Amino acid sequence: MTAQDNQSKALQRIRADVRAMQGYHVQPAQGLLKMDTMENPYRLPVDLQKKLGEHLGALEINRYPGERLEVLKKMLADYAGAPAGSALLLGNGSDEIITLLALATAQPAEGGRAKMLAPMPGFVMYPLSAKLQGLDFVSVDLTADFDLDLPAMQAAIAEHKPAITYIAYPNNPTATLWDEHKVQAVIDAVAQIGGLVVMDEAYQPFASRSWITRMKAEPERNSHVLLMRTLSKFGLAGARLGYLIGPSVIVKELDKVRPPYNISVLNCETAIFALAHESLYAEQASAIRAERQPLIDALKAIPGVEKVWPSEANMVLLRVADAGRAQLEMKARGVLVKNVSAMHPLLANCLRLTVGTREENAQMLAALKESL
Ligand SMILES: Cc1ncc(COP(=O)(O)O)c(C=O)c1O
Repeated sequence: MTAQDNQSKALQRIRADVRAMQGYHVQPAQGLLKMDTMENPYRLPVDLQKKLGEHLGALEINRYPGERLEVLKKMLADYAGAPAGSALLLGNGSDEIITLLALATAQPAEGGRAKMLAPMPGFVMYPLSAKLQGLDFVSVDLTADFDLDLPAMQAAIAEHKPAITYIAYPNNPTATLWDEHKVQAVIDAVAQIGGLVVMDEAYQPFASRSWITRMKAEPERNSHVLLMRTLSKFGLAGARLGYLIGPSVIVKELDKVRPPYNISVLNCETAIFALAHESLYAEQASAIRAERQPLIDALKAIPGVEKVWPSEANMVLLRVADAGRAQLEMKARGVLVKNVSAMHPLLANCLRLTVGTREENAQMLAALKESL
């Protein structure tokens, strides 16, 4: 048998649906201004880089991660203001938590398999995790202006009885922070059918509200709600640290499917270091927030920009005549943005931009102007 025969037979052992799917595409960005994935544009000041480097260099990386994770959890709980009686689960980015949630809930259910529900367009990892872990995904369209369609959400929840309902608060890629009453009504509808709600607050540093306030104000009504956060948009996308805050009885069960050493010693210590310098990151987030409205206003003034949506995150969604062409033209001018057109019919000819520093935004605006 040839190596090719061996491999083609071995490949058959990999799930046919996996072989048929497209993997998550990370756009190559070398030499480009990276405005496609909502990263924080700021780095640590040089003196802190040096301090962190020395700290990381002296760690016992010959040992598995240990008790310091408890220190990190406590710092994150304090930072977020976790409600009384809650516990934390840590993930290698919130992407891993999304996988773990699907893994923990994938079981036979009334009439077939357990379901996951989310308003769409939304974060791509929700349907992807459902597909990979064997849950049926129920997509409920947002309205044309990206608002939550509450009657449609309530009807879908009643019909499908999803194990998990995701609400990204604010949403990606629309940057919308939905009305509190509507979100609470969705959470109430899930309580009726007995399910979990995950409030995904990846963009919390840039939003005017957090669901944590509601969790504390009405703990019983929100007792099936899990709050998911990440340090990625905060400023540590490279360190991969996501966390889930929820009632300890629920988090304890979810934690059983987590690989035991999923957070490396290096991620853990980097996150502890960053939280010890929390005010620096708060200043960075505030600088980014301050650049958001001027960017939106400048976008609206560009001929060829058909629509710009409001934003509660460090991203801006806009519509042009030909998003595919605009994205390529911008790339040719050294600026990488995301063409989200193919994600959902409501996103036809939409581009998603990251809000960066004033200088980065100016460069992005100039590239867009020339591209249209
Ligand atoms: C809504 C939302 N949730 C979760 C994530 C995942 O973030 P990470 O895995 O970096 O924590 C993202 C990333 O873009 C996101 O947009």
